[in-house]
Amino acid sequence: MTRILRSFSFWLAGVAVLLAFALPARAFAHDESSGGASTHDIQQLFTITFWIAVPIFLLVEGLILFAILRYRRRRVDEMPDQVEGNRRLEIGWTVLGFVIIGVLFAVTYHALRTDYTVKADNPNNEPDYTVHVSAYMWNWDYEYFVGDNQPTGVTTTKRLTIPADRAVYLEISSKDVQHSFWVPKLAGKVDAVPGHTNTMWLKVDKPGLYTGNCAEYCGTGHHNMLIEVEVLEPAAFDTWLKDQTAAAGQFVPMGTDMQSAMPEGNADRGEQLFTQLGCSGCHGAQDGVGPALARIRQDAQHHEGYTEEQYLRESILMPCAYTTPGFNCQIMPSDFGQKLDAQMLADLIAYLEAGE
Ligand code: CUA
Repeated sequence: MTRILRSFSFWLAGVAVLLAFALPARAFAHDESSGGASTHDIQQLFTITFWIAVPIFLLVEGLILFAILRYRRRRVDEMPDQVEGNRRLEIGWTVLGFVIIGVLFAVTYHALRTDYTVKADNPNNEPDYTVHVSAYMWNWDYEYFVGDNQPTGVTTTKRLTIPADRAVYLEISSKDVQHSFWVPKLAGKVDAVPGHTNTMWLKVDKPGLYTGNCAEYCGTGHHNMLIEVEVLEPAAFDTWLKDQTAAAGQFVPMGTDMQSAMPEGNADRGEQLFTQLGCSGCHGAQDGVGPALARIRQDAQHHEGYTEEQYLRESILMPCAYTTPGFNCQIMPSDFGQKLDAQMLADLIAYLEAGE
């Protein structure tokens, strides 16, 4: 009796340990989400798959443990019973395997066939807002439209700002290699493919900051290609969009202007821009994809025929005008002239000149 009890508690402990290994997968994979049209279906698919996998995991790992313990060699000359196949068992697990795969196929097929669309509150199912999402090594640009295609002139980098409770349509593409837009709490992955537009609908219930990452390996900066989706209350979003639209109207991009006088720069604001624009992904304390900050500063101070400011200004607006030996200038986006006005450029230069 004690033996049975002992072996029972042994197996109970074994199952508990195995479950402890399995459950983090559940905890980390998906928690309560609010957002995209597809989250519910994806979550349901995940839950079904997970609960099919748990007993299989317990059975397989349990059998391994059982075999190790029960059939371990106890004496040097010990030879276990030799078993010659078992037809019923083999047919059994073959059929069972097919049944499991069949069920997984059916539920996955069902999820894939779902038309991931949020119905907007109007007869034509037009989105309230459309955002063109543009991926590139290693950041994201967002261009905002009202409705289907009415331009606002507003663009942001790295952070996407959208209203809660409204249908937002994302048109996702890439400027260079393949990336993937993934914010787990909002929706499934959608690939960003050069020369092709994929789409995603979002209608987020809860305001807040949702984060994600590029989900397709795209080079050394892939891990740092972060996505921030800021979801505002509709009224707050209206204010935000109005402010941004006004600012966009006054925005005068630098282009490749090397002549005009520059305003006074602010190094703190420059540091924020440096992160927001993704510069920090390639330019850090060490040489990486791009030259290290210290090297940039050194080069700027000693480049013949240039002042420090001219050197930095040219390097930001026209990365390939002069190339630091050993680095590929084409990796750096060449459109910062379109994203920066004189003040922003001055702030960035102030930060680069000041050092950490
Ligand atoms: Cu972009 Cu990985």
